[in-house]
Amino acid sequence: MALVDRFYAGVDTDPRLRHMYPEDLTEPKAHLALFLGQYWGGPSTYNEQRGAPRLRMRHVPFVIGTAEADAWLGHMTDAVLAAGMTPADQAQMLDYLKMAAKSLVNART
Ligand code: HEM
Repeated sequence: MALVDRFYAGVDTDPRLRHMYPEDLTEPKAHLALFLGQYWGGPSTYNEQRGAPRLRMRHVPFVIGTAEADAWLGHMTDAVLAAGMTPADQAQMLDYLKMAAKSLVNART
């Protein structure tokens, strides 16, 4: 998925985020692609392979303050803007991602 590849290319060079992820980004790319596909109405492969998303619980192992959430959202926003969606789809996706990133803040950094 081009959007996910672009997002992880940003993560890969970002010292605020890179340390949280495994060295090999293949699995994280697959997780995020399946999740986003499912969230936006695609097949339910994410749930079949990974179980219910429970994103807040799955992010507990990582220290996510507003700086980390902003960094994550910055790379995701770049990827969405480069994806060539309609303005309406773009706005809807960015609204959701902004809300979701905020909701996963679990620390003061
Ligand atoms: C707020 C900043 C965020 C940080 C620092 C962050 C960091 C991480 C890290 C380090 C992982 C583990 C890598 C992996 O196994 O995939 C992960 C997994 C994941 N993240 Fe995030 N994340 C953030 C926000 C989000 C948001 C907003 C979403 C959804 C809209 C999201 C969706 C996911 C999904 C689906 C997984 C895979 C969970 C699994 O199946 O194990 N993340 N995240």
